[in-house]
Amino acid sequence: MKLFIDTADINEIKEIASWGILDGVTTNPTLLAKCGRSLQDVIDEIFKLVDGPISLEALSEKAEDMVTEAKQIISKIPQNYRKNVAIKIPMTSEGLKAVKILCKEGIKTNVTLIFSANQALLAAKAGATFVSPFIGRLDDNGQEGMRVIEEIMEIFCNYDIQTEVIVASIRHPIHVIESARLGADIATVPPDVLRKMIKHPLTDAGIKSFLKDWEKVKK
Ligand code: G3P
Repeated sequence: MKLFIDTADINEIKEIASWGILDGVTTNPTLLAKCGRSLQDVIDEIFKLVDGPISLEALSEKAEDMVTEAKQIISKIPQNYRKNVAIKIPMTSEGLKAVKILCKEGIKTNVTLIFSANQALLAAKAGATFVSPFIGRLDDNGQEGMRVIEEIMEIFCNYDIQTEVIVASIRHPIHVIESARLGADIATVPPDVLRKMIKHPLTDAGIKSFLKDWEKVKK
């Protein structure tokens, strides 16, 4: 399973990219707003740090405006990084129309704010490169988010659908394990959850005891 980082925090992306585990980045307007820096500066740095799909959100509501916005976003990215841009398009009928056009023009799309398998199926049929079901928000709403991933994976597998599933709105490490067990293509994970995935108290205790014993034998 590929791991994307779900943040626009450059320091976090820099640090976690250095672990050698990152395959891509997802951002959204909320995450970008938290940076407190110029949008284009942040975006330019992200492309330099991670050589993989980077999702950037289009915020227009009409299909033709989404297409124009997508092209504007791409035009501001240096030529050599453009292959990595995926335009986030919301799951609406206008969004589907935009995905159809962008797909024909060879522009990658990530259909976002997906909360059901039917939405994922429609987005895939329109030509989405990626679909992003938001499982944490479903859990928050009293619905089991991971069941939606199970349904999407089953449907995409039944029909050999090439659209990749990005499990988004991940809240904790168990979401990542479950995503991988269900065969999701990608999990986009916030930095704090990636840090929790590293940790185990027995690892820390083992290091401590090895260091202590090494002191006894090294002389
Ligand atoms: O980037 C989209 C998604 O991962 C947002 O998650 O935590 O705002 O539900 P969250």
